[in-house]
Amino acid sequence: MATASANGKTIFLGEHFSVYGTRIIGFGVNKKITVEALRSPTMAVEFGKDEKVILAIEAVKRYLNIDNFSARIIASEIPIGSGLGSSAALMVALVRAISGEFGLGLDDAGISAAAYEAEKIFHGAPSGIDNTLAACGGAVIFQKTALGPAVAQAGIGAPLHLVLIDTGIEKETLKMVGIVRKFKDGNEFEFAAINAEAGGLVNAAIENLQRGNTAKLGRLMDKNQELLARIGVSHPENDRVIELARRQGALGAKLVGAGGGGFCAALMESREAGENLVAALDGKYKSF
Ligand code: PMV
Repeated sequence: MATASANGKTIFLGEHFSVYGTRIIGFGVNKKITVEALRSPTMAVEFGKDEKVILAIEAVKRYLNIDNFSARIIASEIPIGSGLGSSAALMVALVRAISGEFGLGLDDAGISAAAYEAEKIFHGAPSGIDNTLAACGGAVIFQKTALGPAVAQAGIGAPLHLVLIDTGIEKETLKMVGIVRKFKDGNEFEFAAINAEAGGLVNAAIENLQRGNTAKLGRLMDKNQELLARIGVSHPENDRVIELARRQGALGAKLVGAGGGGFCAALMESREAGENLVAALDGKYKSF
């Protein structure tokens, strides 16, 4: 029997524009899903009855060419469908546990590649950042290219005190990606200009992450939020949370991931300021 975990993720900057080739930055989040796998002649995976989950497991089995195992979730700290990468974490933990049980010796890149097969079932044509972050963690710079995904680790020059806040509105990534496509199709030139600006923000963020220039990173988050609002993916509840965070002293705040609800992130000056924000939001919004 083998047990394995995988972590969740948050996008930091560059979401949506990433679909059109702009670089995107994401962070591993220290909330985990843990799965246990066991060789067994009869296949029994206890991940619920969701049809997509069943198809995703089939995709993993085909990719690894292994089908005689049982598996179950033994712990989960990642809320489903919130944007924290629950599906990728589940599949990475499963592949990692299978690799351990069957002695496949897969490294993080191999585990991520197998989990990507499952992500395609969940998300259509995902960029692959979720499975990369679930498998490798850290701070990842990710770019969709014609030759496949380009992945690099970002340098982090100073600790970041990021508060993640759940708007409580379930987000639908496919719907939000569709809204952006519609905006792009109706406003080609405007979208091209906004996309170029977003690319500039991501470049500046990579540089300022390395330098540890937190105040500048906050301003970049605010500008990225403006661009996301212009392409129609913010939601009144995202706006409310961002406003609250700014009033509590956030250096910058934005929606993270698909938008239309889901999570927001607020960058705080210190751990203490972050804890104060979490306390101020208590009773209104879940945050950590
Ligand atoms: O599903 P989420 O909330 O992690 O958002 C996905 C990020 C997008 O940029 C909207 C899509 C993508 O594949 O990059």
